[in-house]
Amino acid sequence: MQTEDKLLIRALRGETLARPPFWLMRQAGRYLPEYRATREQAGSFLDLCFNADLATEVTLQPIRRFGMDAAILFADILLIPHGLGQPLDYREGEGPILEPIRNVTELAALRMDDLHQRVAPVYETVRRLAAELPQNVALIGFAGAPWTVATYMVEGKGSRDHAIVKQWAYSDPDGFGQLIQLLVTATVEYLAKQVDAGAEAVQLFDTWAGALSETAFKRWCIEPVQQITEQLRQRYPDLPIIGFPRGVGAGYKVFARTAGVNGVSLDWTVPLDWAAAELQGSNSQGKVTLQGNLDPRLLVIGGPAMETEVRRILETLGQGPFIFNLGHGIVPETPPEHVGRLAEMLRG
Ligand code: CP3
Repeated sequence: MQTEDKLLIRALRGETLARPPFWLMRQAGRYLPEYRATREQAGSFLDLCFNADLATEVTLQPIRRFGMDAAILFADILLIPHGLGQPLDYREGEGPILEPIRNVTELAALRMDDLHQRVAPVYETVRRLAAELPQNVALIGFAGAPWTVATYMVEGKGSRDHAIVKQWAYSDPDGFGQLIQLLVTATVEYLAKQVDAGAEAVQLFDTWAGALSETAFKRWCIEPVQQITEQLRQRYPDLPIIGFPRGVGAGYKVFARTAGVNGVSLDWTVPLDWAAAELQGSNSQGKVTLQGNLDPRLLVIGGPAMETEVRRILETLGQGPFIFNLGHGIVPETPPEHVGRLAEMLRG
C-alpha cells in the first residue's frame, strides 16, 4: 500500500474517517512481557536503542499483538544529546542521567559533526521497519522538541520544577537560545535522515511545554518547533508532522495555529468540545488533525470506566480529522488485555 492510502496519513491530510486510525504513545515498552525479554537480551536500554535488530523487534511487538494503524520507531528523545557528545546513561528506577550543561562555556563541548555516526543504528532500524511492517501500517519517526530535550540536558535528569533550566533560560536567554538553536539544527538533520530511511510521518514530543509561562512558551516551544517544521517542509513539502505540547491548556490554540504542524496531540486535560470547535479541521483553514487523548490511567483500570471514556472521545473528536491515542504514554503497570480490549473497540 502507498503511504498516501494509509489511514494515519489520510487522517493527517485532513480526512475525516469512518474508522479513525489508532496508535498509542509508548506502545512498545515494559507493560509487554515480550518487550521485557528483548530488553533483557539487549543488556541496557541504550544497547536496545542502538541494536537495529532488537529495536525493530520491539517496535513490531505491539503491532503483532494489537494491530495498530501505525508503528513508532523504537528510540528515545535523548539520543540527540548523546549524538551531540553529552554523556548519557539510563539507571534502573531513576530514568535518564546526563552530565549537565548549564552555560555557554559548557555548551562548547557539544558538536554536530558526529551526530549521524553516533545514532546510525536508529536510521538502520527505520530502514528495516519500512521493509518489514505490514503494508497498511504507517511508520512514525520522532524526536523530542528542543525545550523538552533541553530540560534533561540542563537539569541532568528528569525534574519536577525545572528550576535549573528556567534559571538559565530566564536569566540568559541569548546563551540558552544557542542551545535551543543547536537542537533545532540537530533535530531537523536527525528527522530528515529518518524520513530518508522510510519514516512516513514524524512526531515532536514537547512533554514539558506546560512548565512554561506564556512568553517563554512562545519563545522556547512554539518558535523552535516552527523553525523545525519550516526547515523540514523545505525538504519534504508533504511530510505530515504531529506536535505534542503537553499540558499547555489554552496554549494549544496558538500552537495549532502557528507551529506549522498538521496534527496536534492532546493531553487528557484538554476539554474535547473546545478542541473540536477551536482546533480541529483542515490545515488550509489554519486548523489541524487532532490526536489523543485517553488518560493512560484508564487503560490501567479498563472495564466500563475506560470504555465510556473511549466512546466519548470517539463521539466528540470522530466528527473531524482524528487519530485515536492516549493523552500521554502507556504506563508499565498496564494490563496488556486492556490494550487488547481497546484495540477491539477501535477496529470495530
Ligand atoms: O513506543 C514508543 O512510544 C516509542 C519509543 C519511545 C521511548 N521514549 C522509549 C522508552 C518514545 C517515543 C519515547 C519518548 C520520550 N523519552 C519522551 C517523550 C514522551 C514522554 O513520555 O513524555 C521522554 C520525556 C523521554 C525520556 C525518557 N526515556 C525518560 C524520562 C525515561 C525514563 C522513564 C521511564 O519510563 O522509564 C526514558 C526511558 C524509556 N524510553 C523507556 C522506553 C520504553 C523505558 C526504558 C526501559 O525499558 O527501562
